[in-house]
Amino acid sequence: MPRRRILVTSALPYANGAIHLGHLVEYIQTDIWVRFQRMQGHEVHYVGADDTHGTPVMLRAESEGLTPEQLIERVWKEHDRDFKNFSVGFDNYYSTHSPENRALCEEIYGKLEQSGLITKRPVEQFYDPVKAMFLPDRFIKGECPKCGAKDQYGDSCEVCGATYSPTELKNPYSTVSGAEPVRKSSEHHFFKLSDPRCEGFLRRYTQGEGHLQSEAANKMKEWLGEAGEGKLSDWDISRDAPYFGFPIPGTDEKKFFYVWLDAPVGYFASFTHHVRSKKLGEHLLQDFLRPGSHTEMVHFIGKDILYFHALFWPAMLEHAGFRTPSKVFAHGFLTVNGEKMSKSRGTFITANSFIEQGLNPEWLRYYYAAKLGPTMEDIDLNLDDFVARVNSDLVGKFINILSRASGFVVKHFDGQLLEPTPDMQGKEVSWPATFRAIAAAEEAKEAYEGREYGKAMRAIMRHADRINELFDAAKPWELAKKNDAESRNLLHTVCSDCISGFKVLTYALAPILPVTSERIAKLLNLPLPLKWVNIDLPCKKTLPYEHLMTRVDAKQITALTEVNKESLKPAAPAPHSQQRHAQHQENAVEAATEPATISIDDFTKIDLRIARIANAEHVEGADKLLKLTLDVGELGTKQVFAGIKSAYDPATLVGRLTVVVANLAPRKMKFGMSEGMVLAASGDAPGLFILSPDSGAQPGMRVK
Ligand code: MSP
Ligand code: ZN
Repeated sequence: MPRRRILVTSALPYANGAIHLGHLVEYIQTDIWVRFQRMQGHEVHYVGADDTHGTPVMLRAESEGLTPEQLIERVWKEHDRDFKNFSVGFDNYYSTHSPENRALCEEIYGKLEQSGLITKRPVEQFYDPVKAMFLPDRFIKGECPKCGAKDQYGDSCEVCGATYSPTELKNPYSTVSGAEPVRKSSEHHFFKLSDPRCEGFLRRYTQGEGHLQSEAANKMKEWLGEAGEGKLSDWDISRDAPYFGFPIPGTDEKKFFYVWLDAPVGYFASFTHHVRSKKLGEHLLQDFLRPGSHTEMVHFIGKDILYFHALFWPAMLEHAGFRTPSKVFAHGFLTVNGEKMSKSRGTFITANSFIEQGLNPEWLRYYYAAKLGPTMEDIDLNLDDFVARVNSDLVGKFINILSRASGFVVKHFDGQLLEPTPDMQGKEVSWPATFRAIAAAEEAKEAYEGREYGKAMRAIMRHADRINELFDAAKPWELAKKNDAESRNLLHTVCSDCISGFKVLTYALAPILPVTSERIAKLLNLPLPLKWVNIDLPCKKTLPYEHLMTRVDAKQITALTEVNKESLKPAAPAPHSQQRHAQHQENAVEAATEPATISIDDFTKIDLRIARIANAEHVEGADKLLKLTLDVGELGTKQVFAGIKSAYDPATLVGRLTVVVANLAPRKMKFGMSEGMVLAASGDAPGLFILSPDSGAQPGMRVK
């Protein structure tokens, strides 16, 4: 195959929140594809950036007492750290708030204007008279026009399920200032998507040449409607000041580009910075960003932002003299244990908490790969299945091969491996583990190309299984006890074959396991970086086995969901928009809607016990916490960190009885494990009061 030249992108995460496991479905999926293409020897440029503009970032910065620039800088560092931790290997990770992006946006806008594709007309919108700003719909709440429920968002009611427009809300208020919003008109700039040139182009673009997956192409057909139906409306691309973004030229900084105009342009800005900062040559900008050369541009996105990437973005590029995307690959959404990620259940798991809890990021890369296919179907992270699959496949099948076989080779043959002699090479009878590994790797290769990672993983693990069977059937531990030449030769051959088959699988898994595959390559002395063309280079020796990967302990998963639980704080209200393409600002997160009552069974799940505070001390570096050692009678002693430093001098606590939640999953904190929770009362007035039982209660007694 000729060397392909591919520019690959992942969607740009918003700069107002943490990277979570949902995001990682996309970044890991993209990174795997990029690594795979590189292993094939293709030229790949993988770029990303933070999506920094818009009202939410502006308000968030304000509420944290920061400038937007300070906020986005901080978040950029966090995102960059998270991507590095998960081996998401962007060639350049940039920001949409960059000079390159501004220049490109102005150029694109200018070209569209010249082509007569920009139009202006007044738009009436809600306006916050106190804050003196127009309000995106998600910053307006009020009473449901149908059932009267309070504090509902402008598009639908969470209580009765009615849908309506924000203008129908009763007693609407601005969530920014609390003021009653007024209707106000201002002039907006529109990209004329309804122009026959755009419509015609989009019909050709979305239906021909396989730019989109078939389900996506069908969706687009729906959105485009029949020719002449006029279903496409113009796209509102301006926002009034105050707004954090790029001013629209010629508007005296009164109008700004809507964040969704400059966000995808951020792909080009990041690529431009990549090329210029590394001095790769200006011709790359021509080759990859302008029409006419044989390069590819591939976008990985979530299905929620298809509208932007399959309609607005290509239409903009086409009419501004830029190249259009070769492929838009849309994936589904992540659910955890079959449900939407939830802060109250602790399944809204941040990338950083995963690392901080000591979990191996390659476990997640493998699990996602095993689950991913080329469609827009949602994928589920089932936490029990995660533990089972990682342990049985990755550790039990794959890593196990090397850990078992290399011991014999190091001990009996000084680490030297046999190589198949030319007449044995490719003969299934003598080197079955190696022979079939190549076929499995070929199967995986095709699957990777088509983004059928699940299929690739199955092909690889099937063969790993087979290698283990071959190994067991040869009973190397018995051969090792015999001293005759034939047994020794057989032992040597079997182990060499298994390791050589393992090596082939290592190549095939390298896009999934960049860190582990590199460590294996060092043990087996394979040329780095691993290239697919070298997949059948013989393995000549193995260094003593080093521990490569541990099993997941189910307790780590419990601890992970514990640290992500926000049940004690009220959850952030969920933006509840059914039309994310119209009002797309933040990920929909299920709100922590707690039922009004619980059953007695629910209550008895909580193991409340009397505890005696055996010791209490300050914790160095913690401003809120005291470290308590609790004597919980029959349950022994527990260490608990309690946020009561402001209210108690540790010395006065020692010897006191109190109440502890004894069956709270242990939680790893910065200062150590916390194995329970001490109950305390607090209200609006200052003060914090721990509970005490009546006299006579003994440590360990149940409270019920
Ligand atoms: N900023 C926009 C994208 C602009 S691209 C020019 C955005 N940001 S996002 O932070 O909300 O999402 C970034 C990517 O992560 C999107 O492709 C989105 O679909 C994906 N995901 C966010 N949450 C997700 C899940 N729960 N599951 C799978 N993918 C998810 O959209
Ligand atoms: Zn209602």
